[in-house]
Amino acid sequence: MPLLEVHELRVVYGNGNEALKSITFSAEKGELVGVIGRSGAGKSTLLRCINGMQKPTGGRIVLDGVDLTAMNESELRKARREIGFVWQEYNLVERLPAITNVLTGRLGYNSGFASFFGYFDKSHREIALKSLEQVGLLHRAKFRADKLSGGEKQRVSIARAISQQPKILLADEPVASLDPELSVQVLSDLARVAREVGVLTLINIHQVELAQQFCDRLIGIARGKIVFDGPPSELNLTVLDAIYRFDKNLSEKDLAELARLRELIPG
Ligand SMILES: Nc1ncnc2c1ncn2[C@@H]1O[C@H](COP(=O)(O)OP(=O)(O)OP(=O)(O)O)[C@@H](O)[C@H]1O
Ligand SMILES: [Mg+2]
Repeated sequence: MPLLEVHELRVVYGNGNEALKSITFSAEKGELVGVIGRSGAGKSTLLRCINGMQKPTGGRIVLDGVDLTAMNESELRKARREIGFVWQEYNLVERLPAITNVLTGRLGYNSGFASFFGYFDKSHREIALKSLEQVGLLHRAKFRADKLSGGEKQRVSIARAISQQPKILLADEPVASLDPELSVQVLSDLARVAREVGVLTLINIHQVELAQQFCDRLIGIARGKIVFDGPPSELNLTVLDAIYRFDKNLSEKDLAELARLRELIPG
């Protein structure tokens, strides 16, 4: 049985917008999957469903044999301990040191009473420090988050997600707030740590080149449907057209992006 099974997932938002149409795929432990697609394709909606933040209209998500879509709120809260999430905008507590931010990844496993007083026992602290070490930031452990650079902040948030010892790691546009050079660095850290830990990782990402460089497998989404699922080497012009084409109203920016991609990827 695969670690993650997404079966005919459908999401219709309150305003009638059908963001996901019938998404079906499965993924194994240790895989590093890039989810690509243009703005509005449904990438974030997909990750939010897997994380339990968005209730699907239909379909199933089964993680390690357990159907997340059949859970009540409290069951879901427990299940979410095992799902690590990395946001584009880091979501750190700015006034707290890096290590404390990472420790919040252990909250789900610490007793509520102890957490209330900010107390985490040694085993939690060791896991948090190890996680910081894995992203190369042990020397920043005591720095307040607001004193860290953007790249460092994102590394802390990766460490926080890893410290949950998750079954699955989800990252929604983790490098979209960073400049190109830092994007490469942070993404390669994320990929390296994910591989070291052997955790199934899904990364939403705009930049096709980066996805190709760091992922084992790409899933291309266009208008709520999977239009490509395969290794980066199989990405060609026809596929890119399917992922990035718009029926109408291509903006100048879209056209430029498409032209740039055509240059990059031999078809
Ligand atoms: N809360 C919401 N209510 C209504 N419609 C929404 C909501 N969130 C997203 N949508 C719509 O659902 C579709 C998919 O959005 P989603 O955020 O999943 O796309 P995305 O691929 O992550 O885009 P981006 O690359 O811009 O982050 C879009 O048409 C979007 O406008
Ligand atoms: Mg998004």
